[in-house]
Amino acid sequence: MSAVPSHLHRLFLFLVLFFPTLISASVLAIDYGSDFTKVSLMKPGVPFDVVLNRDSKRKIASSVAWKGEERLFGADAVNIAPRFPSASFGSLKLLQGAQYSSAPSQFHALLYPYLKVSEVPARGTHSFVRKEGEEWTNEELVAMQFGYVKDLAESVAGERVRDAVVTVPAWYSQYERQAVLDSLALAGLRGLSLVNDGTAIAVNFAMSRTFPNLEHHIIYDAGAASLRATLVSFHTVTEPISPKSKKTADVTYVSVKGYGYDRVATGSEMDYRLRELLRGKFEAAHMKGKSLKSEHRAIAKLWKEASRVKTILSANTESRVSIESFHNDIDFRTSVARTEFEEACADLNPRFTQPIIDALEQADISIKDVSSIILAGGVSRVPMVQSAIKFTFGENKIAHNVNADEAAVLGAAFYGASLSKQFKTKDIRVEDRALNYLDVMVSYVAESKTGGQRTIQTSILPAKTVYGAKKTMTFKRNHDFNITISYKDADNLDIPPHILEAEIIGVADAVANLTSRGAVDPLVKVSVGMSDSGMITLHDAFVYGEVKEETVVGKLKNLFGGSSSSSSSASDHGETATVSEPSSSSTASSEEPTTTEVKSTPSQVPLEIATTYLSIIPYTADEISEARKRLIAVDTAERLRHKKEEARNMLEGYLYRLRDLLEGEETSPFMLFSKPDERKKLEEKMWDNFRWINEEAESADIKELWSRRDDMEAIEKPIQFRYEEDTAAPRELENLQQALHAGQAFLQSAHQNYTMEDQEGISHRFTLEELEDVKNRLKETADWLESGITEQKKLAKNDDPVLISAEMKARGVTLQNHVLKMSKRKFPKPPVKKDKPKEEKEGEKEKGEPKEEPKITHQDL
Ligand SMILES: *[C@@H]1O[C@H](CO)[C@@H](O)[C@H](O)[C@H]1NC(C)=O
Ligand SMILES: *[C@@H]1O[C@H](CO)[C@@H](O)[C@H](O)[C@H]1NC(C)=O
Ligand SMILES: *[C@@H]1O[C@H](CO)[C@@H](O)[C@H](O)[C@H]1NC(C)=O
Repeated sequence: MSAVPSHLHRLFLFLVLFFPTLISASVLAIDYGSDFTKVSLMKPGVPFDVVLNRDSKRKIASSVAWKGEERLFGADAVNIAPRFPSASFGSLKLLQGAQYSSAPSQFHALLYPYLKVSEVPARGTHSFVRKEGEEWTNEELVAMQFGYVKDLAESVAGERVRDAVVTVPAWYSQYERQAVLDSLALAGLRGLSLVNDGTAIAVNFAMSRTFPNLEHHIIYDAGAASLRATLVSFHTVTEPISPKSKKTADVTYVSVKGYGYDRVATGSEMDYRLRELLRGKFEAAHMKGKSLKSEHRAIAKLWKEASRVKTILSANTESRVSIESFHNDIDFRTSVARTEFEEACADLNPRFTQPIIDALEQADISIKDVSSIILAGGVSRVPMVQSAIKFTFGENKIAHNVNADEAAVLGAAFYGASLSKQFKTKDIRVEDRALNYLDVMVSYVAESKTGGQRTIQTSILPAKTVYGAKKTMTFKRNHDFNITISYKDADNLDIPPHILEAEIIGVADAVANLTSRGAVDPLVKVSVGMSDSGMITLHDAFVYGEVKEETVVGKLKNLFGGSSSSSSSASDHGETATVSEPSSSSTASSEEPTTTEVKSTPSQVPLEIATTYLSIIPYTADEISEARKRLIAVDTAERLRHKKEEARNMLEGYLYRLRDLLEGEETSPFMLFSKPDERKKLEEKMWDNFRWINEEAESADIKELWSRRDDMEAIEKPIQFRYEEDTAAPRELENLQQALHAGQAFLQSAHQNYTMEDQEGISHRFTLEELEDVKNRLKETADWLESGITEQKKLAKNDDPVLISAEMKARGVTLQNHVLKMSKRKFPKPPVKKDKPKEEKEGEKEKGEPKEEPKITHQDL
């Protein structure tokens, strides 16, 4: 096995923007776990990595909580849970697409006995009471978390992020997958695809490796909500880049072959058992055996502690427990030995390895043909889990050097990038399949010749169907009919069997249409498929027939013979719906009649499909837009509150600073540069605002908070200005005086040269007008400055200055620029007859060089 440290993955990846004109090129990948979420972003120009949260953590606790009206996410939400147990929502993944009071529902209630849960009427799913009169569905709470990570990604991307790929366990049925897609839509994200988490890890594994020979690996992902083993084959093949091309390229095929999973031997189950262990210890020590069960805060504290202890016990044989004033002011101090924990989980032991056995069996591959078992997920670090695998399959089967912690999210991002076709990525072709052991059935009512009815059920998408497959069913019908799509053996998974009923509408008209055009016994065709996201989809329905296209002769014949009538002879003769692959059915008749007058051409008339969901109903477009509005309103209110807080803090901060200034030393700059009436006004406003901020600011709007500050600032500004001018003005005065001296020196030298040029009979460098102009400019500026200085001398420090630094600077710059421009003028050439070669050369030499600055004599006023 070519083991490459995972941090090198990035180096091998090259991302190139394929279509630079596309507006948004970012793809967000979300590995949404029951305990932790990991996020990655694919965007050209942004290093391909995991997106960090605001505390620079690489994983974000999958939790949302409220502290008053403030919403908290990640670790903040987890940490607040012991204080506000009923407003802190975790492990929501357990309830994705789960029916109220189903097994996952009951388990969640066991973990969070303090949450108020209710059933969503139409959907039969879960909704949580956040506070009196405010409820959020599970999908909405998950959407809030998606929204939170979307914000994080957007601040990294520097642009809006729209497209997302989310990992899901491969065992997720239609219902759970739909719940994820609904949450994405509620968060304003477009679900580019769902990707099975084992497959995502496999893609990540293939990103930096080539497989010249076919290899099988098992990805063993032990998480908080389920345990999964995915058997994947990898093979890299060099093949032509297109069927006829001579150029070749490497293609890595990643094919999912088998799967096994367990929803009991999970991290959450272990945490639960640890929590119960701790509860028992406390009750025995401090409560004389009385139960702590109804003490919500205590239970919430233990829940948090249990997860910490589990982590400690992965590396140590014992973990200390110490919770200050845990319950009734009693500190809880104890310790848990790893052996105690393992005893409490003893019954889970066989479950740790069973998924691997199931995956091998489903793939029909022997363990000796498996190159390695790749461990992923936090629970795979629990010693009893590792030793179970080592004991059953041998230590040497476990892959080392593979850091699979972030593999799922990075693999999903890569997968998403290759789907979006905007990136040029290594050519990895994924073949995934439906691995939850459930056949998808289609059932419909058939009428027999005798008029009796019976329900026929066919397996349309059997277990292990490859994603992207499409199956077409053929019916002999001439009126509307219904088909029902269900899972076979759904009871095994504790999910409702019937997914949807589809009414195929418009059959009679479509059949009549085709028959009137000469088709004999047209057939109804309905296509059902398995999407790349593992969703069962009804593609389309139509009536198919071979219509007769007639020549002119043929038409005349018909006119007189009157052979074809529009009456349909079709009646329901013994239903025989056949399932066939679309490819074979569409090439049914290809012989072209060449000599006859009537030509047969395949033709189809589309039918309408009306879908009714039979158990867990997906969010409708209206519901999504309603819920989205509500979520946006929460976001907006939150943002507004933060802005208001900021404005209030600014005002308050300003008031305290002002108070310090007003109460400062007599000799402080503020006192020196301010006038008594200014200070009086400021003081009045300050006390009024102090009162206002305590009594009225709560209900005020942001504008007023800012305007009250602006109001005081307007009075303070001139004081500030005087103070600043006091140091800036002397500096600029000096600069301006220097510019004036330089100008004078220039003018003097120019005049001397003028006289000399006259004597030597060479042309003039400057005209007399130009020199006059310089003189005037110098005088005008000198006069302005002189009167300014006189005026300024009469003023006190707390008067508004008249000689302003900015104006002096502007005048100095204008003057200097004018002189500099003139000094760049070429020197006139002496007449040729004069022979002064030495000077001439020097003159020429000077030409291209920067002119030396006119000498400046410094003089203070
Ligand atoms: C067909 O399905 C529609 C929608 O579910 C339903 O209203 C109708 O009664 C069904 N018809 C039959 C014959 O089952
Ligand atoms: C038959 O169906 C085709 C395709 O939908 C349509 O264009 C055509 O107008 C229809 N003809 C009749 C006679 O209804
Ligand atoms: C005057 O002539 C001297 C010598 O050529 C030269 O260095 C100087 O820059 C000239 N002054 C002006 C203002 O042109």
